[in-house]
Amino acid sequence: MTPRSSNWCDGTPVILPSFLLCDFGNLEREVRALEAAGVRGLHLDVMDGQFVPNLTYGMPIVKGLRRLTDLPIDVHLMISSPAQYIDAFIDSGADWITFHREAVDDPRPILEQIRSRGVGAGIAINPQTPVEEIEPCLSLCDMVLVMSVQAGFGGQSFDDVALEKLERLVTLASDETLLEVDGGVNASTIQRCSQAGATLFVVGSAIFGQPDYAAAIDQLSRLAAESETV
Ligand code: DX5
Ligand code: ZN
Repeated sequence: MTPRSSNWCDGTPVILPSFLLCDFGNLEREVRALEAAGVRGLHLDVMDGQFVPNLTYGMPIVKGLRRLTDLPIDVHLMISSPAQYIDAFIDSGADWITFHREAVDDPRPILEQIRSRGVGAGIAINPQTPVEEIEPCLSLCDMVLVMSVQAGFGGQSFDDVALEKLERLVTLASDETLLEVDGGVNASTIQRCSQAGATLFVVGSAIFGQPDYAAAIDQLSRLAAESETV
């Protein structure tokens, strides 16, 4: 566990706001509002216009956010050649780096590269990629990110296929491996994700599309926590 995110594995749900639908003209205001709402980390969506059709941002935004906050920064790389950029993202302040299984031939050396720098290593799978594709590298993963939408855009609808995958991963991965879900997570879907075994919940539109971030985050945390005991 990276030092800044040492409380992510206490079993309580961690809501991670996704910096995709935020106000990029007011990043500091966004961070302060999220800190005031009690978030325990930030999720940064890096897209290269190749691995996914959309293009977002890279290291400078990670670096800028790192200067603004001590919250753990969870970088989700939706890029074609992740190995090439890992060191640069770590040098910019990432605490976690997740890249896509679909983007690489062999994820193992890249996971080792990330871990060797003392940063949490994660692998992501799109809805159509089966869990079998990542089974051989699970022992090198600190986190598995199960996409519940096709990577590339915010505001899409939740795909239930993520739930079966989370359930399988609970049995396949070690207890130390964190399970994260991303895409279409909102008040109607978060409980099922929690029941299926996720503890990290990436949320874009269900936070940034709401007038009151604190109220939205409270409600999501409560729903996720309630379902743990169901
Ligand atoms: C999708 C991104 C997500 C997404 C979440 O490619 O990885 O982080 O922006 O946004 P919502 O919650 O709106 O689906
Ligand atoms: Zn993401």
